[in-house]
Amino acid sequence: MKKDKFIIQGLGNNNFLSGKIRVNGAKNAVLPVMASSVLFKDGFGVKNVPFIEDLNRLDEILKGLGIEMKKEKEGEYFINTKGINGVEIDEEASKRMRASVIFTGPILARFGELVFPHPGGCVIGARPIDLFLDGFEKMGAKIEHSDGKYSIKAKDGRLKGANIFFKIPSVTATETFIMAGILAEGKTTLKNVAIEPEIISLIEWLNSCGAKIKGVGTPVLEIEGGVLLEAGDKIYETIADRLETGSFLILGALCASDLEIYNCNPAHLEIITEMLKDSGVDMQVGKDFIKVNNKNLKNYKAFNIKTHEYPGFPTDLQSPMTVFLTQAQGESLIFETIFEGRLNYTSDLVKMGADIKMWDAHRVTVKGPNQLKGRELEGPDIRTGFAFVIASLVAEKESVITNVYYIDRGYGSIEKRLSGIGADIKRVEN
Ligand code: EPU
Repeated sequence: MKKDKFIIQGLGNNNFLSGKIRVNGAKNAVLPVMASSVLFKDGFGVKNVPFIEDLNRLDEILKGLGIEMKKEKEGEYFINTKGINGVEIDEEASKRMRASVIFTGPILARFGELVFPHPGGCVIGARPIDLFLDGFEKMGAKIEHSDGKYSIKAKDGRLKGANIFFKIPSVTATETFIMAGILAEGKTTLKNVAIEPEIISLIEWLNSCGAKIKGVGTPVLEIEGGVLLEAGDKIYETIADRLETGSFLILGALCASDLEIYNCNPAHLEIITEMLKDSGVDMQVGKDFIKVNNKNLKNYKAFNIKTHEYPGFPTDLQSPMTVFLTQAQGESLIFETIFEGRLNYTSDLVKMGADIKMWDAHRVTVKGPNQLKGRELEGPDIRTGFAFVIASLVAEKESVITNVYYIDRGYGSIEKRLSGIGADIKRVEN
């Protein structure tokens, strides 16, 4: 694993960023769509693919299954499923990317068997896979666990349609069982599903290729199991990354004299735009762009955050927004309800000069504003890695961010894109 660093010169309220920044395709949309290739009898093209580290992990998993991911040009790939034969998810890739678990549904549904290790990924909490294992058992599969690997076999070689109620509306579990249901025998009903835009986009893609999924956008989905999907000449166009959009918006609200964030879909992050507007951030929200500046920076008002499944406040933007709140007037309560390890980074913000008190693993209060000071930081996950980039730019003096691998997992060529709007950020390769 690469151990690159970023060296960032803080703006310290003396200089500001300006210009335009393009939002890439959504990582969390492209991963399940590429995994859906296991359900296809032919191949298909994918456009607006972000160039991120997770794409390399995805390629490793697809290769292990006999599927080829061919780059046609920048941002465009063709997924060739002609050689598909594997039933095992690549161990190394799986340990580095939790989303590898999405492959379990399509592989088990297509081949009736599956081998995979317990997935790893960002250090944000325990991240169990009980919802997956329970669901497969409901679909008639038998699970064995030894030497750190799960070995799962469908009864008589084919999953059976089932009624599955998710105790938690998990994003990847919803995606996994939608895909499992497509090749299962009979009807699968999924209740209390997640409704993130990436899931809606996946369902629309699958339905356009022959899947029969009803209830899109509601908490209950019905899937009629059937035959392999066929793309014909259809191409999947990756939706804009709402988490990247939100990250840039928070950056702009703190550090930009004027910033245009384009190629995005602001309709997917209304909770963020509403909260920032109420706090006093000057912005103009268009259909596919947001213009933002920090002219009211000195008067931003504090507010509380409670993370929630979509369309509530996304846990992924909790850490960037906490950085924002260190610069707002008053006290904020941050209540992280989804992951129990996703507030640990706040101790680093305290070392930078923020006034943050942790009450328990799920709650901190932030009192602002406080001038942050540059220091050495280690990114524990994708989003907090970017939150540290924002904090470093807000701060006075230099910061060094290690473990840049995590930022690279979700934000493609970020140092180049931020340099393009005036940030002094350099990558030191290691
Ligand atoms: N959970 C269980 N059991 C399970 C699965 C999940 O208890 O079997 C719990 C989790 O521990 C968590 C909650 O359910 O407390 C919700 O987690 P979820 O399963 O929805 O998370 P995920 O599907 O693993 C996706 C995104 C994450 C994002 C979360 C929450 C992808 C590939 N990943 O993860 O994105 O934080 O949903 O919205 O879609 C990121 O992009 O940086 C990232 C981490």
